[in-house]
Amino acid sequence: MPETAAPATVSQLLSRATGRLADAGCDTPRLDTELLLAEVLGVTRTGLYLAAPGTGLDDAQSGAFEALIARRVEREPVAYILGHREFRRISLAVDRRVLIPRPETELLVEVGLSLDRGARVVDVGTGSGAVALALKDERPDLDVSATDISADALAVARANAARLGLEVRFAEGELACGGVHDAVLANLPYVEPGSELAPEIARYEPAPAIWGGGPDGLDVVRRLVRTLAGTQLVGLEIGAGQAGAVAELLGAAGFRSVQRLSDLAGHERVLVGRR
Ligand SMILES: C[S@@+](CC[C@H](N)C(=O)[O-])C[C@H]1O[C@@H](n2cnc3c(N)ncnc32)[C@H](O)[C@@H]1O
Repeated sequence: MPETAAPATVSQLLSRATGRLADAGCDTPRLDTELLLAEVLGVTRTGLYLAAPGTGLDDAQSGAFEALIARRVEREPVAYILGHREFRRISLAVDRRVLIPRPETELLVEVGLSLDRGARVVDVGTGSGAVALALKDERPDLDVSATDISADALAVARANAARLGLEVRFAEGELACGGVHDAVLANLPYVEPGSELAPEIARYEPAPAIWGGGPDGLDVVRRLVRTLAGTQLVGLEIGAGQAGAVAELLGAAGFRSVQRLSDLAGHERVLVGRR
């Protein structure tokens, strides 16, 4: 009788798939492979190593893992494959309708934490709802609203709010959609035309969430700053190298103090303007 090949083990699958993702140009092939295999097996990443690494996967598990790795080989972001991304204390459902929240955007939430009790704050261009929902989660006393021009993005944000049980008002429309706000927090599109983007971004993330317009990518930010007459505090996420230009805009709009916050790589990524 012919012998049937033994099913591939966890450690064999990890090392083969890591090699495939490295060849495909992924930045963190081992981490990505671990996350995808852990998803298929319904365990944590540590759980992969606690379960016997020599155990084999059944056919259904092998098929499911292969399907996820094939998507990642095409450079689909891990967060879209898994369908969620962790952001501060919450987990947000994400798909191709919204930008995947980035770690540096957590700085905007920190800006919001400094607000007075009961302050009215709007998250402009909320995407998945990341800033508004993380802030409401950590400061339930704040009156938090959020806007986006994309109806698709707002559907994702509203579903996240409902699942997390967080009370945030959402509005579809341009910039802050009018209204009176003590503070405005915004991670609007700011990428300059002609910038080279990783395939994960260029192929999968929504273009209106990326390109800011104008020769320097700052058109949307400029339009927002023009609407801030009654706002006491503004927190703006910007791209590396844009801090000087945006600080000038805020100064010209009457913000007397402009503070620059840096991300973990040391790039100035959030500007905080105060009257
Ligand atoms: C860079 S994404 C940020 C999403 C989310 N704030 C985050 O940090 O994960 C920018 C978002 O702004 C929205 N947007 C773009 N132009 C806008 C405008 N003029 N008014 C309101 N929202 C806008 C896009 O649809 C997108 O969801």
